[in-house]
Amino acid sequence: MDNERVVVIDHPMVQHKLSILRDRDTSSKQFRELVRELALFEGYEATRDLPLETVTISTPICDAEARQIGGKKLAVVPILRAGLGMVDGVLELIPAARVGHLGMFRDEETHEPHVYYDKLPADIAGRQVLVVDPMLATGGSAAAAVGYLREAGVKGTIKLMVLVAAPEGIEAVLAADPDVRVYTCAVDEGLNENAYIVPGLGDAGDRIFGTK
Ligand code: URA
Repeated sequence: MDNERVVVIDHPMVQHKLSILRDRDTSSKQFRELVRELALFEGYEATRDLPLETVTISTPICDAEARQIGGKKLAVVPILRAGLGMVDGVLELIPAARVGHLGMFRDEETHEPHVYYDKLPADIAGRQVLVVDPMLATGGSAAAAVGYLREAGVKGTIKLMVLVAAPEGIEAVLAADPDVRVYTCAVDEGLNENAYIVPGLGDAGDRIFGTK
């Protein structure tokens, strides 16, 4: 695995919350809260390398130089529908970020991704993009989303924030684009015959929205 391009968030708080998230008996309400919290923690790591610029501010005591985030503005792009569960957590951290939506579903038989909806900020090409989707399984949807964003003109590193990844998915998405970086809370064993992550946490969308 390419360690430069895969960041595993092994902070104890993150691992603790992830273990509750995985538990089949965790309620939909708690699951949703945990996804939001984990997205916030992960966003903290995913924004670690944002450039800073020096500005002059006035404290109550005197003028002082201080550092603020500079560089490109950010956009968060959830892959519908499970990615929606991560948006609020990232926005808590980066309130000024724009949100673009990409609707992709996985054909149950072929497991191929299909775009059924897209709505991106008009200036997406000039933004740093954080793609969010809790589960990186085969990598098909994530790779297609990254390709779609490149077509839309997005340059530089695209950061893919997931909560649980399968090794197959990581390999697929890294192979699909030379400048994508994956942030995840765990790299699991692999996929089962239905392309679900093992041990995983089941269907993230169903658990977030209580549709099962
Ligand atoms: N999508 C999910 O929600 N869960 C998986 O395990 C794989 C894909």
